[in-house]
Amino acid sequence: MSIELRDGQPLRLDESRRVLEIAAEAEATDGSPPLSEQFRLSVESGDPNVTHVLSYAAEPALAGYAQVRAGSADEPPAAELVVAPGWRRQGVGSALLAALPREARVWSHATGPAAKAADAFARAMGFEPVRSLLVMGRSLVDGPPWPVAVVPERYSVRSFEPGRDEDAWVAVNAAAFASHPEQGALTRRDLEQRMAQPWWDPAGFILVVDESATGDTDHADRIAAFHWTKVDPPEGDTGEVYVVGVSPDRQGEGLGKAVTILGLDHLRARGLRDVILYVDEENVAAVRTYAGLGFTDREVHRQYALIE
Ligand SMILES: CC(C)(COP(=O)(O)OP(=O)(O)OC[C@H]1O[C@@H](n2cnc3c(N)ncnc32)[C@H](O)[C@@H]1OP(=O)(O)O)[C@@H](O)C(=O)NCCC(=O)NCCS
Repeated sequence: MSIELRDGQPLRLDESRRVLEIAAEAEATDGSPPLSEQFRLSVESGDPNVTHVLSYAAEPALAGYAQVRAGSADEPPAAELVVAPGWRRQGVGSALLAALPREARVWSHATGPAAKAADAFARAMGFEPVRSLLVMGRSLVDGPPWPVAVVPERYSVRSFEPGRDEDAWVAVNAAAFASHPEQGALTRRDLEQRMAQPWWDPAGFILVVDESATGDTDHADRIAAFHWTKVDPPEGDTGEVYVVGVSPDRQGEGLGKAVTILGLDHLRARGLRDVILYVDEENVAAVRTYAGLGFTDREVHRQYALIE
């Protein structure tokens, strides 16, 4: 068996095709895609932050693939790997893992029995789960009804207004997610990038505002809580609780639950059938809130790290 590394170099067309074929074979066998969207897209790109790792069981047969994305100053590199179903239990996965930087965090997106296999593999290699991202979901047409939203009197509810709410929202998002490295770092530019996506719909970006408060900019109200819902693809029938946040000085007033419910009402009124969300398993308060609103666990995505 041989391992080939492409550090910041794109794969050849025949290689990237075979990698995507392996990913498709794995998905058909395992019932879940082994690579997340960003990693899959990078299979075909020459991104300088990406290293491709190819495992040849016997030339010219590519048997497995790993991809590493460089991290930032305080974030370790992230990796994903997949072995063609016909080449498993022959040491291909181990060889790929051994070729990754020791500090890399490896994602498993597998579900069901494939998740058990990934977990057994990772543990056999000395890795342990360090982060779990839970996918929770519920039907919007069946299942336990959710309660009516109770918004304290001094607040009013309206949709995000482009051109008016950007700075105030970036500020409240940063405050609400101060301890969350990815979400809390969102800038106005990041927000505007998302506003340019086909799924952007300000009607689904719900704000709870305190009319009596005056901010330091020219907007006359203050965002106390928000629920940004997302429907991607826009013509699909599944909505997402994309981001829910409550300003730290407004927490404990029931606004998180109220604004979550307002978003569910909105998605149901749009005629959607199902809603999902991603939440860190460790965020017990959020997981409990969602479970109380009828959400159940659908999938767990785990990130593994080598335990020294
Ligand atoms: C998980 C995966 C990468 C393993 O690849 P592989 O080439 O079969 O792994 P290896 O042959 O190197 O296995 C090494 C050890 O891991 C453990 N292991 C691997 N697959 C296992 C399984 N299905 N059940 C139990 N243990 C398993 C075993 O201890 C194995 O040693 P052994 O074969 O001598 O018993 C492969 O099944 C895969 O591509 N799965 C889908 C993608 C995925 O889940 N990626 C995330 C990985 S964290």
